[in-house]
Amino acid sequence: MSNILEQAFDPEIFRKNGHALVNQLADYLKACRIGSRLKVLPWRSPEQMLKKWEQDFHQSPSGSFEELISKFIDKSIHLHHPKNMGHQVVPPAPPAILMDFLSNFLNNSMAVYEVGPSSSAIEKIVIRWVSSIFSMGEKSDGILTSGGSIGNLTALLAARQTKAGFNVWEKGIQGNKFAVMMPDVSHYSLIRAVKIMGLGDDGIIRIPVNDRMEVIPNELEACFQQAVEEGKQVIAAVGNACSTSTGSYDPLEEMAHFCRDHGLWFHVDAAHGGAAGLTNKYRHLIKGIELADSFVIDFHKMFLCPSLTTAVIFRDGSNSYETFSQKASYLLKSQEKQNWYDSAQRTLECTKKMMGIKVYALLKFYGPELFSDYVSRTYDLAKDFAEMIEETQDFQLAMVPASNIVCFRFIPKGKSPLDLETITQQIRQLILEDGEFYIVKTIINGKTYLRTTLMNPFTSKKELAELLEKIRYTYFSHVKNVKEC
Ligand SMILES: Cc1ncc(COP(=O)(O)O)c(C=O)c1O
Repeated sequence: MSNILEQAFDPEIFRKNGHALVNQLADYLKACRIGSRLKVLPWRSPEQMLKKWEQDFHQSPSGSFEELISKFIDKSIHLHHPKNMGHQVVPPAPPAILMDFLSNFLNNSMAVYEVGPSSSAIEKIVIRWVSSIFSMGEKSDGILTSGGSIGNLTALLAARQTKAGFNVWEKGIQGNKFAVMMPDVSHYSLIRAVKIMGLGDDGIIRIPVNDRMEVIPNELEACFQQAVEEGKQVIAAVGNACSTSTGSYDPLEEMAHFCRDHGLWFHVDAAHGGAAGLTNKYRHLIKGIELADSFVIDFHKMFLCPSLTTAVIFRDGSNSYETFSQKASYLLKSQEKQNWYDSAQRTLECTKKMMGIKVYALLKFYGPELFSDYVSRTYDLAKDFAEMIEETQDFQLAMVPASNIVCFRFIPKGKSPLDLETITQQIRQLILEDGEFYIVKTIINGKTYLRTTLMNPFTSKKELAELLEKIRYTYFSHVKNVKEC
């Protein structure tokens, strides 16, 4: 055995480094929580960042383990900072992080039962828990996938296999013009899924949305009929709960009834907002999800888990076995037999991480109240923030938020709509480069808005008031006289 191999697997070196890592991260968490780390994002351009790390890579001597951790933390975006309010990425709860660490160490690969025995059982328990929370019925079943994008694809593949009228998996699409109805504001992974399925642009039927970016139920029939007239075979419709850009919830119940009446598969992308179902206050937002044929939920969004863990739930669990009915004799003994414990039968992934343990541990140690408290807190805070914005004279809300996503813009006096576009884009860029806050931008009805997603349970009205001040300051000190973006 070589000396380096001995060192890399030395239990005592591992113990020392492991303790050092946890110590550093605990201090980091403390600093983030009280906001004493000044910047959320230590902004550098991609080229500057690459150069920094290239220098580090070629540096000799190579430095200590602690030093590398420190440098890596310093140059990362700090999700646990209360002024982090950009994308839908959760600051994960430390117990879930530790479970991820454990699962990385054990590295059970999951494709078939014997390479993930406990993990396969735990995945089943998590799937059953989600199915029961969303009242999916006795026959429901599902699978965990590495993220919502794979989850959405998995569900739409099942939709196609079920609704095509023949075995697409074996015969290919045979020139059929299959199509999926979805609102234009759907996450791009859904559009990608349709394209991966070989259906092209024609395979996407865009359902009109109202000013709040919600599907207009009365438009469904016309969309469907037009597609039929164009010779398309509509196989499915997708509803969002909620949409990525504005956090809007589609009328799921009405969409489900429409799908039932037209023989379509109904899929709900609840990657972000499905968690509302765990709260009494916001459960109404996902009413109708229980009528869906499939839905996805991301645990790395509103369930406090580190990336990635998605549940894909099917009303009729047997559909999930037909999607990837491929033979791999060295791995899967008999594809005829539906083995819930051989996950490779039902997902495009072969090796996958032991994802369920994070969710299982949070449920076991804290119960579902952890999630409901988190969702209520962040959704309530978004409503507070919206009120704060409406009370000002110089900010404009895009819409009253349904979830924890709030879109708004600064409207200084006497500026034209064109100026406002430039101003909003510049404010966002300056705030990004400044690094004190992390916010993003989005386009709604052709206008640019600043966008915040309140993912951090330790963000409060104080930071939100400071954000509004920061935007004013940024405008008056850096943007006011600049004309072009
Ligand atoms: C509504 C929605 N669906 C799907 C996804 C894709 O999920 P993932 O990033 O886990 O692949 C996202 C990501 O933000 C999303 O917001």
